[in-house]
Amino acid sequence: MTSGDFSVKKYGRYGFIGIVILTGQIALGGWTSSNYAALTCTELPICQSGWLERMTFEDSFDVIPPEKESYEFGHLDHNERLTIHVVHRLGAIVTFLYLGWLALMVFIKSQTPFFKNSALLLASLLIVQVSLGISNIWFSLPLAVAVSHNIVAALLMLSLITLTYSLRRKI
Ligand code: HEM
Repeated sequence: MTSGDFSVKKYGRYGFIGIVILTGQIALGGWTSSNYAALTCTELPICQSGWLERMTFEDSFDVIPPEKESYEFGHLDHNERLTIHVVHRLGAIVTFLYLGWLALMVFIKSQTPFFKNSALLLASLLIVQVSLGISNIWFSLPLAVAVSHNIVAALLMLSLITLTYSLRRKI
């Protein structure tokens, strides 16, 4: 029975926390693209110099925008887009560290191939996703990369939910 590996059961609750973190990171990604903030930061790892002084949270995360005739190409100013972009990148660091730790723990502690493979899949998707994010910046948002970044986010969530469900399943 694949989920009968008691040595890793306790990581189920950490899987739930991971789902919350990943949901937040995906929402930040959607906020980045829908506010046309993808190309506001063109440098790695966080943004071009002076980003910290430019950060502003006043209107950057307002879910109800001011009334406008059209929202095409976004309605936020440069500093607000920069803030959104930077928060998505900082969120990526948190997501990477947390899910990377979870995958490593499950891999090390589990004794069944099922959990070892699930942890490997999660870690691989995580590395691919961060590489695609970096490629978005490095290659100035090619369509194929932007779409792949979206698809891999969904696969990442799928693999994390599967892992968490398997860890929590009572046998
Ligand atoms: C685990 C880490 C990450 C997750 C889960 C994630 C997820 C997402 C998602 C779901 C989107 C929305 C895509 C869309 O609406 O088409 C997005 C957009 C974006 N992400 Fe990430 N991301 C991650 C890491 C990164 C990193 C490390 C970078 C850059 C260094 C990055 C840069 C971007 C950019 C520039 C966009 C906007 C793309 C566009 O406008 O089409 N992401 N992200």
